[in-house]
Amino acid sequence: MAVQISPSILSADFARLAEAAAAVSNADWLHVDVMDNHFVPNLTLGLPVVESLLKASPLPLDCHLMIDDPDRWAPAYAEAGTGSVTIHAEAAKAPVRTLREIRAAGARAGLALNPATPVEPYEDLLGEIDMLLLMTVEPGFGGQRFLDMVLPKIRRSRELIEAHGGRVWLQVDGGVSERTIERCAEAGADVFVAGNAVYGAEDPAHAVDVLRSIAAKTDPAGEGA
Ligand code: DX5
Ligand code: ZN
Repeated sequence: MAVQISPSILSADFARLAEAAAAVSNADWLHVDVMDNHFVPNLTLGLPVVESLLKASPLPLDCHLMIDDPDRWAPAYAEAGTGSVTIHAEAAKAPVRTLREIRAAGARAGLALNPATPVEPYEDLLGEIDMLLLMTVEPGFGGQRFLDMVLPKIRRSRELIEAHGGRVWLQVDGGVSERTIERCAEAGADVFVAGNAVYGAEDPAHAVDVLRSIAAKTDPAGEGA
């Protein structure tokens, strides 16, 4: 499993998003949190800002849609040219159709689960997705404390993914830092979102390198290598 780092611009200066994107060009993705003030109690940005970020970012965009009715809105994010579009299982009413539309538009399709949402009911969707996102905080805000109670679900998700061929990436999002990334990597995560740990640091690019090196030297549970 290759370690990937996806800095979340939620913790960046929203008046300087282009600079924030350029500051982490050593990362793999730029994580963009779309919030609608309905699915989560916070409001961030939408498609027009994503379209501008596509022009400004040296990295592909990893769009995390924390919105109601993703079936209606998600395909447009893929059609705009983003690299990855993730919808929440709790919000989607027709996830199979929507995930297929995301892929048909040329983006990777992601499914996100809140901390209290079990992974087992979604096993049959693993063939429809390219990434499973496990929230390690309640979604809505950056800078929250990492929820250790999600660790067993990260392990179970890794087992399910391996049982289905190991093709799906396993992303963790929320409270990921130098102190918590090792636990996530050990449990089997391979894509790490970090907002505060990157943009709260004096040198965001260095923070990306540090997070990557900690995750990369961690043996995933059960891999034995
Ligand atoms: C929270 C967002 C996260 C957030 C993570 O709802 O989905 O992507 O930016 O921020 P940190 O890493 O600060 O917890
Ligand atoms: Zn996110």
